[in-house]
Amino acid sequence: MEVIREADAYRERMNAARSNGASVGLVPTMGAFHAGHLALMERARKEDDVVALSIFVNRLQFGEGEDFERYPRNEEADLGAAERAGVDVAFVPTEKEMLGAEPAEITVDPGPLGDRFEGASRPGHFRGVLTVVARLLELTGRSRAYFGEKDFQQLHLVRSMVRDLAIDTEIVACPTVREPGGLALSSRNAYLGEHELDVAGVLFESLADGAERVRSGERDPQVLVAEIARTIAAHDAVRVDYVAIVDEETFEEPREIDRPARALVAARVGSVRLIDNVRLDPS
Ligand code: PAJ
Repeated sequence: MEVIREADAYRERMNAARSNGASVGLVPTMGAFHAGHLALMERARKEDDVVALSIFVNRLQFGEGEDFERYPRNEEADLGAAERAGVDVAFVPTEKEMLGAEPAEITVDPGPLGDRFEGASRPGHFRGVLTVVARLLELTGRSRAYFGEKDFQQLHLVRSMVRDLAIDTEIVACPTVREPGGLALSSRNAYLGEHELDVAGVLFESLADGAERVRSGERDPQVLVAEIARTIAAHDAVRVDYVAIVDEETFEEPREIDRPARALVAARVGSVRLIDNVRLDPS
């Protein structure tokens, strides 16, 4: 596996791969790998000739008082895991290589959805995500890029950006990888104590109950949202940030669930903020 730290060298390596006729798959990450990240790499390994991975803890997407400084970093272990997953090229840029001017003068505006749900709780977050993802996709050139459904709003906004800015990338959505008990894998789970890990399982349980209720005929989003919030709030150690149901395609909040939707939840377990979502399928 090649490790590349300069933006120009990475771009040239990707261009060289394509000029040999290879298809390129990119997995953008902030490192601290778990099985969710590895699943994206394995999927790319199956679908593309050359698999590229980026590791960059992106300061632009962390707000004031968020965990940028203490975000888990473990480059050596990550590079080992990536190599075993069959990654060909790891792009591990410094801030200077990745961010252009400091602070960035030109950023990507996520539009109105950038201020809702995750964006309401984390002002500027999606501007930071899209700015860095746009730069990564531009450096990579024509490719497929793999994103997890775990960050459903991020996935949606990246898709919208690629559409609206005519970026030559096909976005591939990958299902959320979970602990046996249902908790979605997240680098932030490392902050949870043993008891908190147990309690955090309620996020998925409440969402899974909601999905089950839709399968048995419930179509009213308000009823489902109230039920999910109630289940979570029954635990003292958990504080709900938001619960919402959105249309899977448009991210609008439907009045009735008559086509595939997503139930989204964000909550704090102790001091750790977690998000999750599940599909609601009325068919
Ligand atoms: P990070 O949190 O490292 O996640 C990298 C990718 O892994 C994202 O596409 C995310 O959705 C996916 N992922 C995380 N947990 C997952 C799980 N349990 N199952 C499946 N996929 C999972 O998301 C980011 O980094 C950043 O915002 C980034 C896109 C790299 C831009 O900085």
